[in-house]
Amino acid sequence: MAVIIDGKALAAKVRDQARHDVDELKERGIEPGLAVVLVGDNQASATYVRAKLRDCEQCGIPSHDFKLPADTSQVELLELIGRLNEDAAIAGILVQMPLPRHLDEEAVVSAIRPDKDVDGFHPENLGRLVRGLPGLRPCTPAGIMCMLDEHGIDPAGKSAVIVGRSSIVGKPMALMLLARDATITVSHSRTADVAAVCQTADIVVAACGIARMIKGDWLKPGATVIDVGMDRDEAGKLCGDVDFESAEPVAGAITPVPGGVGPMTRAMLMSNVVLAARMQHGL
Ligand code: GUN
Repeated sequence: MAVIIDGKALAAKVRDQARHDVDELKERGIEPGLAVVLVGDNQASATYVRAKLRDCEQCGIPSHDFKLPADTSQVELLELIGRLNEDAAIAGILVQMPLPRHLDEEAVVSAIRPDKDVDGFHPENLGRLVRGLPGLRPCTPAGIMCMLDEHGIDPAGKSAVIVGRSSIVGKPMALMLLARDATITVSHSRTADVAAVCQTADIVVAACGIARMIKGDWLKPGATVIDVGMDRDEAGKLCGDVDFESAEPVAGAITPVPGGVGPMTRAMLMSNVVLAARMQHGL
């Protein structure tokens, strides 16, 4: 029987701390605004954005909501980002991804001022992570580090396997675990035997986007299993990248889906807004 890592409960704690930190900033006359930019009418994105705006309200973060039509041009979007970069009332800028196909996501991310990049996607922030310098970290891996810490799971000296090599989860996750002295393996779609790689892991982070791919017999008994997946099974039911039913009896600790990594990702965005505001004011 694994310990269930309750992301929902921990996220509430992280938001409480953010609320407290925001109050402190306001006492100093700092209003840490978050600009949330949504281009087009992707329904999933609209749902995520609504949730982020609700989190802002709960944490006392003034939100600035920009809903742009699907045919917004690259120039128009970059002009908006330019204005937000200069606006002292805006501590953080989030452009919800994915963008409509005619827009260049890479150019958009790179246009955001690195100290307002609360997603932690900007090349400068990823470079800072590589070099071990302070900076804004991507929310999902930051939330996972917070979950490990909360449960007293110290990565130092442990073997960690990350399944998936995205720039927003897999690669930064590997770097953050490495910074905490874990030994890292990143497996991906061209890895010969993912099951055998996972069997070596004390910590598995599943971020491959394939419903229930990681089975219980792929795990070392007692392993910590972190599931980043937000997938649908054949019946259309929400599930993770880990087959929870077979994994839970083998794991030492495991995150559920929903109620695991997802809520933590959102909560870390609030922490990043606080951090961004503090950095901008030399605090
Ligand atoms: N789309 C899906 N997840 C994210 C995220 O964490 N940040 C942004 N900006 N867009 C996303």
